[in-house]
Amino acid sequence: MNRERMAGRFITVEGGEGAGKSSNLAFIRELLERAGREVLFTREPGGTPLGEEIRGLLLGHRDDGMSADAELLLMFAARAEHIARRIAPALAAGTWVLCDRFTDASYAYQGGGRGIGPERIRTLERLVQGGLRPDLTLLLDLPVEQGLERAGARSAPDRFESEQRDFFERVRAAYLAIAAREPERVRVIDASRPLPQVQADIARVIGAFLAEEG
Ligand SMILES: Nc1ncnc2c1ncn2[C@@H]1O[C@H](COP(=O)(O)OP(=O)(O)OP(=O)(O)O)[C@@H](O)[C@H]1O
Ligand SMILES: [Mg+2]
Repeated sequence: MNRERMAGRFITVEGGEGAGKSSNLAFIRELLERAGREVLFTREPGGTPLGEEIRGLLLGHRDDGMSADAELLLMFAARAEHIARRIAPALAAGTWVLCDRFTDASYAYQGGGRGIGPERIRTLERLVQGGLRPDLTLLLDLPVEQGLERAGARSAPDRFESEQRDFFERVRAAYLAIAAREPERVRVIDASRPLPQVQADIARVIGAFLAEEG
């Protein structure tokens, strides 16, 4: 049997703070499971015991801050573990992987937000992922202010959520630039609307993807 046909598909959900990623992941999982796909549901940074420890280092507040390169390398260290232990084995076994944030977030936050050049991120992407890239990415896009209001109403701000507004504007612009470069893979969803409308769009995109993937 053709290995490619047996492999699972890799779907990621991206977007700024409070865009609704976590809220919509359960909905997407349900769509996939109803279509008969086995789904591994995971998140970054994190997804493994070591990755979750690294997540704690990345999101926790620090009096002495963190250099941009250290932040980037910790993200990719967690990602290496995540791919080796969970993502790659699942895909090889035919399980679909649904992940809350992945490498596009490194381009958006460490690239756009912190100002690290994309070529440095690309180097780590190749090193850590080889040829592994998401098959489909849903980018939940909304104005920065609206996202921060939603996130702020939910919980105390973590180290990223404590950034200034212009940081999040750069994050949003970087995400939209990726979507403009890779319109086939990255589908932009207008996440500023009420949840039922957002979910209707998501259902259309996932339905079309399932139809294509057979
Ligand atoms: N379309 C929507 N309309 C109104 N409120 C929403 C919508 N989508 C999500 N929310 C609410 O906004 C808050 C943030 O949503 P959620 O936690 O899913 O965002 P997130 O993208 O996962 O955020 P983070 O980047 O911080 O993890 C939650 O309280 C959620 O209930
Ligand atoms: Mg979330």
